[in-house]
Amino acid sequence: MNIDQIEHKTEIDMSVELAGIRMKNPILTASGICGYGLEYLPYLDLGKMGAFTTKSITLEPRDGNPAPRMAETRAGLLNSIGLANVGVDKFIVEKLPQARRLDIPIFVNVAGRTVEEYCEVASRLDEQDAIAGLELNISCPNVACGALEFGVDADQAGMLVSAVRKVVKKRKLIVKLTPNVTDISDLARAVVDAGADILSLINTLRGMTINIENRHPILPRGVGGLSGPAVKPVAVYCIWKVYNEVAGKQNIPIIGIGGVQYWSDAIELMLAGATAVAMGTVMYVNPQAPLEALVGMEDYCRRHKVDRIADIIGTAEPPRAI
Ligand SMILES: Cc1cc2nc3c(=O)[nH]c(=O)nc-3n(C[C@H](O)[C@H](O)[C@H](O)COP(=O)(O)O)c2cc1C
Repeated sequence: MNIDQIEHKTEIDMSVELAGIRMKNPILTASGICGYGLEYLPYLDLGKMGAFTTKSITLEPRDGNPAPRMAETRAGLLNSIGLANVGVDKFIVEKLPQARRLDIPIFVNVAGRTVEEYCEVASRLDEQDAIAGLELNISCPNVACGALEFGVDADQAGMLVSAVRKVVKKRKLIVKLTPNVTDISDLARAVVDAGADILSLINTLRGMTINIENRHPILPRGVGGLSGPAVKPVAVYCIWKVYNEVAGKQNIPIIGIGGVQYWSDAIELMLAGATAVAMGTVMYVNPQAPLEALVGMEDYCRRHKVDRIADIIGTAEPPRAI
């Protein structure tokens, strides 16, 4: 694989636009995978990606959950990191200037346990010119609501997003949806009505794995978030549904996430309705996967006589039986 190929084959326009944010290509990192940016540089030239997403940032620094925080499953990964991060102040002073050097759009993922915490973190980040957009991780327990996740209840999610929208004036607001709901379009509708500029989906699926010898769940908290190839069909379905029922109708771009390993997976998510595609778990197996995917995506466009990759967004044919 010659990575320089990407720059030489210029005839396909690989750029996409996310609510006014231009990405030179549709591939970005998923939150939580490459830290704050520079940690991953020995393994992958992140500057060649279309954008970069940081791990979740909270108001105070957090140590996260006890180890082990990850457990491998047959076709994926269960994680229970617990939002370990340096906190917003240290992020702004120490990490953001480094991430800025990547010279691609930076999306900062924001998490919290109360509406006030989300708003406080978001308003501080809104002042930072280095940031293109804030991605709200709404799969966090709401302490005011019996620890029910914000993202599983349309009213709670809408209320959170409208509160954050009031303080986010300069950056684009991305809302990251969880698949752990009955109808993801209800959630999409609620957060778009509340002011989201961009949707990203999916976050991890709830799962569990048990050591059959000692009979303990492998993750200390029992439950974890499932990611990797096992979740890709769930991601395709959720993106297709949200694109057709909500986002496509209102011109809200989608960042597709979930189980993307190869170029063909990224194309599939774009056909389902994603404007850009984030890669996560695969990068632990093959850090070069995003750049390899870009080469394959260009070849796909060439074979299908597509001049601009943006032209394939949401072009999946309807199911035959409808
Ligand atoms: C180790 C790990 C850490 C993650 N941390 C975060 C996080 O901090 N915030 C967030 O919104 N999503 C986080 N995610 C979810 C990913 O961003 C992504 O939505 C999910 O893993 C599905 O994509 P994938 O199958 O390509 O990994 C994390 C996932 C993994 C595997």
